[in-house]
Amino acid sequence: MDIKKLIIDCFDDNAKVNFNLNKESISTPPNTNMGDYCLPCFAWVKSLKKSPQEVATILTTNFNYTKIVERTEVVGGYLNFFLNKKIVTLNILAEIIASKNNFGKSNVGENKTICLDFSSVNLAKYMHIGHLSTTVIGNCLRNIFNFLGYKTIAINYIGDYGTPFGKMITAYKLWGNEKELNEKGVDYIQDLYIKFCKEAETDETLNEQARINFAKIEKKDSEVYPLYEKFIKISKDEIQNIYKLLNISFDSWRGESYYSDKMEPVVNELNEKGLLQDSNGAKIVDLSDFNLGACLIRKSDGSSLYATRDLAACEDRFKNYKFHKSLYITDVSQKLHFAQFFKVLDLLGRDYAKNLHHIYYGRFSLPNGKIASRMGKQAILKDILNYSISKTKEIVNNNNKLTTEEKNKIATSVGVGAVVFSAIRNEKIKDVVFDLDEALDFNGETSPYIQYTVARCFSIINKVASIIKNSSYELDYNEISDESSYELIKTLNKFPDTVLLASEKFEPCLISRLLIDISKAFNKYYSNNRVFNENDVKRTRLALVEATKNVLQQGLTILGIEALEKM
Ligand code: ARG
Repeated sequence: MDIKKLIIDCFDDNAKVNFNLNKESISTPPNTNMGDYCLPCFAWVKSLKKSPQEVATILTTNFNYTKIVERTEVVGGYLNFFLNKKIVTLNILAEIIASKNNFGKSNVGENKTICLDFSSVNLAKYMHIGHLSTTVIGNCLRNIFNFLGYKTIAINYIGDYGTPFGKMITAYKLWGNEKELNEKGVDYIQDLYIKFCKEAETDETLNEQARINFAKIEKKDSEVYPLYEKFIKISKDEIQNIYKLLNISFDSWRGESYYSDKMEPVVNELNEKGLLQDSNGAKIVDLSDFNLGACLIRKSDGSSLYATRDLAACEDRFKNYKFHKSLYITDVSQKLHFAQFFKVLDLLGRDYAKNLHHIYYGRFSLPNGKIASRMGKQAILKDILNYSISKTKEIVNNNNKLTTEEKNKIATSVGVGAVVFSAIRNEKIKDVVFDLDEALDFNGETSPYIQYTVARCFSIINKVASIIKNSSYELDYNEISDESSYELIKTLNKFPDTVLLASEKFEPCLISRLLIDISKAFNKYYSNNRVFNENDVKRTRLALVEATKNVLQQGLTILGIEALEKM
């Protein structure tokens, strides 16, 4: 039920226009005796030369009451709205029940494609803690856009190009062997790489060899290239295991190497349009007029750069997908890089440049102490996930009602969910210090808490199923007329607007916070309202349990966390 819109519709047309009233004008008062919704009136004080109270009073004279919006009150600088609880409660409940798991689903994105470049890991290295946020935020945004009817293209722009691969090949040729490579996989490649970096500190010839080997990769040299391909395959297989655990998949794996020989057109165009300048033998686009320094396009030795490949990749994406928006999800340290290449495309006259968005987030790290010293500052993602799973297992092992298989399933989904949730629990720009004990607290503001609430709903529904004899029933307001029911209903009703806002602000935490609020409201509701009693089932209360289950389940799915039936 779009209550904010219903309230706006109560104003006379001229007031709507003069005060520029829209859904965003309406907010929620801090407590319920101040009304269900409110309109802060401070914005017009200056232009009307009136106090906020006076503005609110003027607005009431332009307000027409309806069956739903029954009463208003001017308090402080606010115009407060009081709704007809019965109508609101029954309408929202009926709507959620009828929409099954699709409450809030829409087609606002119909016929629009969104590209999301996320995860985009540099291969032949472990996926570490720094890759968590891009992977989780990207996947969540993708789910949000899918839910709103957009077509999404998830792109893993893998870092499969550059001198690091020359280094690995060099190290392998010097110290490696096939047997160990086949047995140990990424661990082995990683060890060789570390050895290379150490040895290169004292042996200067090594970097030169690495450069030569990288050049051989570029030329698809018959000895070096197959080795490179093998490294890529081994690392891809390794990261696929993590994506599987996180339940994430990609539509495109076109990475940096794919664009290594496709940069000529854009570089030529920059040249033709007079945008390219010499700078000590290198080629740059001067962006100082825009406070963005210089975007390096070609190094003095002729080799290409990260920005140049991104220009080519972006052109390719627009050609293939005609995107409505194209998103890049990385940490905040790459802000300048994206601002630069977006600007270059703008200077080239690409209309789509305005639809490119860099979505950046803060640092995700481990606290000093226990896990950090066990795993190191650059903790490997696989280790963190496994550690979280094993910790969860210790917790669920106490539950004797579960089979071993159920315990394993719960441990995996709760353990993984806790890590995922930590990356999208707060505003993405905030730094996160990951505390596993906190993340696994079933009573805290955590994903286990939400998952547990869903499982609780499921268990109520399943228990009651055997008592219910007659499947048809009518909603009875008397069963859910208390304050805690009303609060729960209103919180559930925020879901559609919240998903929409999350898509506009690229902010998953809006949804994760709402799911916490819903869980809290549900647990309060459930302790106040008995749903069933021997043979007597309160059907409307049960319907509210079902509505809660539907919304939480859908919400968790969007966040990329599994909703379990049993916990
Ligand atoms: N591979 C890069 C890194 O690990 C991130 C790539 C982000 N995407 C892009 N199109 N530049 O830092």
